[in-house]
Amino acid sequence: MKDLKPKEIVIELDKYIIGQKDAKKSVAIALRNRWRRRQLDKDLQEEIAPKNIILIGPTGVGKTEIARRLANLTDSPFYKVEASKFTEVGYVGRDVESMIRDIVELTVNNLRLRQQDAVQEKAAKMAEERILDILLPPTAPKPAFSAAGAVPPVDHGVSDPLPGVSTREKLRTMLQNGKLDSRDIDLDVTAQTSPMVEIFSNTGMEEMGINIKDMLGNFMPKNTKRRKVSVKEAMKILTQEEAAHLVDMEKVKTEAIELVEQSGIIFIDEIDKIAGKGQSHGPEVSKEGVQRDLLPIVEGSSVPTKYGTVKTDHILFIASGAFHVSKPSDLIPELQGRFPIRVELTSLGAHEFTRILTEPKNALVLQYIALLRTEGVVISFTQDAVEKIADIAVEVNSTTENIGARRLHTLMEKLLEEILFEAPDMDEKTITIDAAFVTRQLMDIVENQDLSRYIL
Ligand SMILES: Nc1ncnc2c1ncn2[C@@H]1O[C@H](COP(=O)(O)OP(=O)(O)OP(=O)(O)O)[C@@H](O)[C@H]1O
Ligand SMILES: [Mg+2]
Repeated sequence: MKDLKPKEIVIELDKYIIGQKDAKKSVAIALRNRWRRRQLDKDLQEEIAPKNIILIGPTGVGKTEIARRLANLTDSPFYKVEASKFTEVGYVGRDVESMIRDIVELTVNNLRLRQQDAVQEKAAKMAEERILDILLPPTAPKPAFSAAGAVPPVDHGVSDPLPGVSTREKLRTMLQNGKLDSRDIDLDVTAQTSPMVEIFSNTGMEEMGINIKDMLGNFMPKNTKRRKVSVKEAMKILTQEEAAHLVDMEKVKTEAIELVEQSGIIFIDEIDKIAGKGQSHGPEVSKEGVQRDLLPIVEGSSVPTKYGTVKTDHILFIASGAFHVSKPSDLIPELQGRFPIRVELTSLGAHEFTRILTEPKNALVLQYIALLRTEGVVISFTQDAVEKIADIAVEVNSTTENIGARRLHTLMEKLLEEILFEAPDMDEKTITIDAAFVTRQLMDIVENQDLSRYIL
């Protein structure tokens, strides 16, 4: 994890998320606290539990966005789940422990890829040797009596009368200079595990912690296929293969588990959906049951995964929810206690919308400008046009349903529909979008509530 100070974290988040100061501050502090904790003696480290957070706020105000950006910021293992996906143990569906298995899986993969990157150079050298072996098979010691009809040496079309090292070195130079790139060679390629098996392993069996792919992998014949590939492609394939061999998987596993245990962050979205009693009629899952299952994980327990046991004590949990119907106090008390930090995100107004449209690095207005520029159409927005869009967003949010900043997406799409459609054939390649344009394109729909319910 990069050791960003809380202020630096907030500054980074500010690049993408407008407002929501309190929420940014809380997540920044929580992150820094984990760094602080790691500076302490082992004994004390064990004592300090993370202060889990609940982000509370209406839909479309940036809860998920904050978490997503936070993930990019830190190098910590990060995993996002929707609480509403979980079912109680014993029901068909995802049990809560799967989030631990998933975050470990994710981390193992990331670490493995990173390690593979680190050994690229060495792997490329080994791949080079293997390709040279194929191009110029190492001469076997001559048998004393050569049998009649012995298989003649394969002619790969590389003819050089000089045998031995110097030929190999000549070939190597050619190979390195890309002179052999387009030549075809035969390569035994290990086929990827069939996708069928992949589908299997995601159903039902998961809760047993059994990986079917691994199981079957042992029974199924090693699937290698001889394929004709260009030297260039062979170099890529073999480098990957060698890199995979070079990675010490045992070390990756241990490191991944350590990393998850010490700095993992799990984002539980829509936690409000499992708040409240909601005792089931019929086969419906009891919300309280899910909460009870969740509790030990948040409180700290050991979860078996195929890479080893993961202790969840120090994983940071950030939960989020709109809490329209239920309240955080509808969560079972034990769970409430494990989420001591509550932050409210404020609902967004015209001022924020104006800023969201233009200021973030990935601002919508910038996105559309960039998209259209690919076809040579240069659009620009006047300030009053942006304000007008923001005003309309507020109005539609209040007359239909408040979906927060998501409204801006639908509005912008509708606003630019004609231009996006006509762009490739336009004569006029420069378009200024002003307030009048916005009114012209959107007002009819906005004023007709029924229509806007469907379109905006
Ligand atoms: N404060 C904000 N600043 C910038 N963009 C925002 C902000 N709030 C929301 N957005 C944009 O609106 C969209 C929806 O936001 P987000 O996914 O964070 O909503 P949410 O709060 O998680 O809502 P929900 O409760 O429905 O999950 C995103 O595309 C995001 O970029
Ligand atoms: Mg969300």
